[in-house]
Amino acid sequence: LIPPAPTRSAAKPVKPGSVNAPEGADPRVVAWVASVAELTEPADIVWADGTPEEYQRLIDIMLEAGTIVPVPKRPNSYLARSHPDDVARMESRTFICAEDADDAGPTNNWRDPASMRQVLGGLFDGSMRGRTMYVIPFSMGPVGGPISKLGIEITDSPYVVASMHAMTRVGTAALEAMRGTTDWVPAVHSIGAPLAEGEQDVAWPCNSTRYISHFPETREIWSFGSAYGGNALLAKKCFALRIASVQARDEGWLAEHMLLLRMKHEDGRVMHLAGAFPSACGKTNLAMLQPTIPGWKVETLGDDIVWMRPGEDGRLWAINPENGFFGVAPGTSEKTNATAMAMMEHDTIFTNVALTADGDVWWEGMTKEAPEGLIDWQGRPYDPANGPAAHPNARFTVRAEQAPSIAPDWEEAVPLDAIIFGGRRPTQVPLVLQARDWEHGVYVGSTVSSQQTAAAEGTVGEIRRDPFAMLPFCGYNMGDYFSHWIDMGHRLGRHAPKIFSVNWFRRDADGGFLWPGFGENARVLEWIAGRVAGTAAGVDTAIGIMPAEGSLNLEGLDLDAEVVDELFEIDPKAWLTELVDVEAFFGQFGHALPTGLVRQLNHVRWRLEHV
Ligand code: GDP
Ligand code: PGA
Ligand code: MN
Ligand code: MN
Repeated sequence: LIPPAPTRSAAKPVKPGSVNAPEGADPRVVAWVASVAELTEPADIVWADGTPEEYQRLIDIMLEAGTIVPVPKRPNSYLARSHPDDVARMESRTFICAEDADDAGPTNNWRDPASMRQVLGGLFDGSMRGRTMYVIPFSMGPVGGPISKLGIEITDSPYVVASMHAMTRVGTAALEAMRGTTDWVPAVHSIGAPLAEGEQDVAWPCNSTRYISHFPETREIWSFGSAYGGNALLAKKCFALRIASVQARDEGWLAEHMLLLRMKHEDGRVMHLAGAFPSACGKTNLAMLQPTIPGWKVETLGDDIVWMRPGEDGRLWAINPENGFFGVAPGTSEKTNATAMAMMEHDTIFTNVALTADGDVWWEGMTKEAPEGLIDWQGRPYDPANGPAAHPNARFTVRAEQAPSIAPDWEEAVPLDAIIFGGRRPTQVPLVLQARDWEHGVYVGSTVSSQQTAAAEGTVGEIRRDPFAMLPFCGYNMGDYFSHWIDMGHRLGRHAPKIFSVNWFRRDADGGFLWPGFGENARVLEWIAGRVAGTAAGVDTAIGIMPAEGSLNLEGLDLDAEVVDELFEIDPKAWLTELVDVEAFFGQFGHALPTGLVRQLNHVRWRLEHV
């Protein structure tokens, strides 16, 4: 059996020295670490302090082990090549172990917690033999901040520790904040590759048996077998989304798969916007957008996760709880995202990108042509017959402070004006529309669907429903999650942010994108800002409010009138067919589905049938 969560443990006193604990660590932290060490039997225990010296030690260890190689063209930058089967999140191996299967709901893989504890107990038994166990105290959000939370990740992967340094606030301040409280999330990760005495290690050790397990009631995370970001950096998807969504339900706030930005105009107009798109559907790009229209500027606040709480003023206040960006490399270029290109000129960990002959990184979409003499993501001379040079889910990991666009006050909460939902929809879904009210907005969020991307295992291109872009990340029954969103609207009342749907990915008959996207998306944000301010005109349609003729700024864009029409075309027949699918999707939630969503569905159908 895996040891119980610290809140429940009888806290048998453990000598801090026996697990190398720093002076002053809470005895319950020490006891829990000792219980994990007893099970996993590491050769050594190291507590992460988050210092640059520690980061350098981790880099040296990984260079020595061959886990990373230098990227000579970029100071302090490295390339990690993963095992070819350890390249993305594994939704089929992700489990929500609630006491009651109904609490996991129909969209999650449920396992009974007692039997999962037994399975994991077997796997973690001796799983760190011959390796160093790292104890990583971290804070999501600034230590002690009003929307922040604490956690500890234990791992036997130096790649995970180094990545956590960039992605979270690691170290002594977080550990000190845990003194006298058990309000922190325990998370255990093992690559599941114990080393026998004298055994030669491999560059990317992992295990083909994988479990990414969450225990929502006891707020625990246990992950085995994979070292890929979303499966292994447990602060990110596992804590900040799956466990935090449960905490948010219980405590009256929201934990969401969203970017967060501030859009400012020279004339003083300011808008704070959060946006949920499924993985690899444009969050990082939108968060770093460089507007093509004059007067506007975007400041980045976050690119993947947003925690939001109603404030004393009745508005919804938001933070990005992370400390860095774990971005999709392919498609990133000077043209599409110059901000990201600038931020990864130094101090970056690349994973599964290609290496050029002159010691730089490369991926599909960075330049038109692949340079001569590339080494592909698996370390082979590049041959198109083997597939792309960089893995389609190749990533870069950098600290938030490295983004030239980062807002100077990015660690502070901001009041939200607008929330947008989107996905990759090659047909049917218009460029932008506004929800009529909060409940309709929740309907729009709950019916998001998108083509699958390489960010998770599965068939790329297949359309699936991904409500709120949270399908893989909601730690409880999504029907209850929809209700929680509807309740939030009642609480916020007239202070609630306005809700919108966007789609950058509509295609023409030849398969090309209709909308130029990237920096031009600022035009859509400008219309959204206008709707929030009450200055932009809209037309009510069956599926929502669309820009009135002339209210969306298309000046200077080389778009034919027919293309613009196509971007906003609503095909009632196709939408009625879509509603059949929505109804079937809703049906699986049974009585957990809030009646408000049924009301919205019926309203949209009635409007479509009566145009
Ligand atoms: P995230 O995973 O949601 O953060 O998505 P990213 O911002 O990393 O983008 C994922 C992929 O979509 C990258 O290859 C981008 O180049 C591409 N992308 C992002 N925004 C747009 C856009 O507005 N239009 C088009 N056509 N592609 C986009
Ligand atoms: P993404 O984050 O949303 O930027 O792709 C990683 C993921 O969701 O797996
Ligand atoms: Mn994500
Ligand atoms: Mn991203």
